[in-house]
Amino acid sequence: PPLDEIINLHDFEVESELPCPSAKGWAYYSSASDDEITIRENRLAFQRVWFRPRVLRNVAKVDWSTTILGQKSSLPVYISATALGKLGHPDGELNLTRAAGKHGVIQMIATLASCSFDEIVDAGVPGQPFFVQLYVNRDREITKRYVQHAEKRGVKGLFITVDAPQLGRREKDMRLKLIGEESGAKVQEGQKDVPKDQGVARAISAFIDPSLCWDDIPWFLSITKIPIILKGISTAEDALLAYDSGVHGIVLSNHGGRQLDTARSGLEILIEVTDALKKRGATRQFDIFVDGGVRRASDVLKALALGAKAVGVGRAFLYAYCAYGQPGVEKAIQIFRDELEMNMRLLGVTTLDELRPEMVDARALNVH
Ligand code: FNR
Repeated sequence: PPLDEIINLHDFEVESELPCPSAKGWAYYSSASDDEITIRENRLAFQRVWFRPRVLRNVAKVDWSTTILGQKSSLPVYISATALGKLGHPDGELNLTRAAGKHGVIQMIATLASCSFDEIVDAGVPGQPFFVQLYVNRDREITKRYVQHAEKRGVKGLFITVDAPQLGRREKDMRLKLIGEESGAKVQEGQKDVPKDQGVARAISAFIDPSLCWDDIPWFLSITKIPIILKGISTAEDALLAYDSGVHGIVLSNHGGRQLDTARSGLEILIEVTDALKKRGATRQFDIFVDGGVRRASDVLKALALGAKAVGVGRAFLYAYCAYGQPGVEKAIQIFRDELEMNMRLLGVTTLDELRPEMVDARALNVH
């Protein structure tokens, strides 16, 4: 249907399957690992949290803008890194860049984007803030160059992906045997030969260093002044290690269900993590982000009420541009805005700062 008949983010998912240039693109984007239990759980977790709305609070004026890692954002939502944008649309990630620049949203650039890092940054409006997602190369000099180049180009947040020492088995993707060359992926320096029958994810990710460990964090902190966020934390234990390591924050994430299947959802572990940090007496600035399954402003508000600074969204924006290009992404942003306005009014808050744990009933989450 025409774009003006799209009324929620789920609609983009339905619409994007058909125009994806190839079945292989759709398989790569939509797939999750093994039995795809975690990807389903990412949505279900939000449905286990109920609102406790307050009334009679003068909600005539509502403001959902915020600051993420020191950068103004018109939404408490950032565009999370998704690789290989050209599988879904000839302009690839630039669809995100242009829509984000126009509407004051922050895009996280994937190491494995189809468009090059510089192409993406160059497509931004002057001063447009970007985050960058990092897969750490076996050759640390390559990683160092990449990070320092990103810093030179003004990137505002370095999200090191820590949940992918090896990419998960996405079986839909494997069955279609999409290989790296077809995907438009830039061959990474340090890439080793890999079997071509393992699906695109495996084919393009063999440069990622599985020996990456906590001892490496000081090195990252030493090579850049960009705030460092560890993307893919799943337990309170690791959240505390991250806090102690000196990084600036974490993303509670299971990589959109694409890594360890039956890992818990980011929302599910948020309370465990905020409790642990409180118990530790954590005092320095340490931002907690959540991603996975966010499709409604109500999801966003639940995560923020429980202590998240902002949430990441991957597939919804990706599907929006597969189906409709840049206008699709703009529409997705507009949908978040409209839903935030309504949900904040109905919840009885006029700014995001007013969100509190008491505004949700999260007893049905798996907490003790
Ligand atoms: C991803 N994600 C991801 N994460 C990352 O750190 N590096 C990457 O290259 C990719 N690539 C990627 C490709 C595709 C097709 C998807 C769907 C996801 C994970 C992404 O950043 C984010 O964690 C999830 O997408 C969030 O879940 P939702 O919003 O897709 O449900």
